[in-house]
Amino acid sequence: MTPADHDPHGALADLSASVEDALGQISSADTLDQLRAAVSGATGKKGSLSALKSALGKVADAEQRKELGRLINDAMTRVAEAAAEREVFLTEREISARVESEKTDVTELLVGATGSRRRGRLHLVTQATERLEDVFVGLGFRVAEGPEVETDFYNFEALNMPPSHPARSMWDTFFVESETPGSLVLRTHTSPVQIRVMQEWPPPIYAVMPGRVFRRDTPDATHMPVFHQIEGLVIDRGITFADLAGTIEAFTKAFFGSEFTSRLRPSYFPFTEPSAEFDIRRPDGSWIELGGCGMVHPHVLRAGGLDPDEWSGFAFGFGIDRMAKERHGIADLREMYSNDVRFLEQFS
Ligand code: PHE
Repeated sequence: MTPADHDPHGALADLSASVEDALGQISSADTLDQLRAAVSGATGKKGSLSALKSALGKVADAEQRKELGRLINDAMTRVAEAAAEREVFLTEREISARVESEKTDVTELLVGATGSRRRGRLHLVTQATERLEDVFVGLGFRVAEGPEVETDFYNFEALNMPPSHPARSMWDTFFVESETPGSLVLRTHTSPVQIRVMQEWPPPIYAVMPGRVFRRDTPDATHMPVFHQIEGLVIDRGITFADLAGTIEAFTKAFFGSEFTSRLRPSYFPFTEPSAEFDIRRPDGSWIELGGCGMVHPHVLRAGGLDPDEWSGFAFGFGIDRMAKERHGIADLREMYSNDVRFLEQFS
């Protein structure tokens, strides 16, 4: 029986059969495609409910036509609501299935040989950096950082090394491609951060600046092309070389222990005058070379926007990786960067 029979009762029976059929197909649709097929089978252009609707015109009785039309519309709404509900369910199920199948189980990596969970640890260099920062913060310093890709100006020129200054050859450099070739470098030391801090912080300045630096070096037991330094900068009124020596000594004792002492040896850096290397003496009497230091050169103060007649200061810089190497008795710097867990997990 179809509505074409002008039989409203037959039409009603068809209607409820179509609705039931559609709702059944919707609730059992297992995929979004199946759901779409079920919906279009009912309310699509050639769907069963749509067919009933287009046959309405053949119902002669106006009241019956109206009533039947309302029932068909209600039925279409019910089908649409059921479909929307099923769509939410299927979509969510699909997403959780995808999340489940794509997720990486990282817990595996954290489970030790005994099966117990253990936490990761900070890299040796990070540990050393944090200890150094703690010691300097304890001495009244603040921590600053600068960019690893530097301009020629900050890395060399502002540090009293104009283009073609022979001292530039002390720092074998990686250049970064840029519009003006040669104007961008991977910083060869943390000293450029001295200039940035002078430009940004009003004096007096007591700053340490740790960070990664780059030199064109072939890796060996004591050199890496990528390593870490910590820079120190003090700018105040009436700062003298005695303050520099005293600070290095205070740092040595605070970091290594009271049985260690330090010494300064005359040296040369273009950005400090006078300049020195500093060494520390182990309790057994042997010396380790640690870094460079000196009184900030007037040209450098000026590049940092400070008046050398009013302000004076000192700076120092040394390698963090070597400190970690020294502290843990590591024979070869390269071990620290080989990512061998057996090596790294010895130092917690
Ligand atoms: N920047 C120097 C270097 O990398 C070290 C240094 C820092 C020397 C500050 C003097 C003052 O060799």
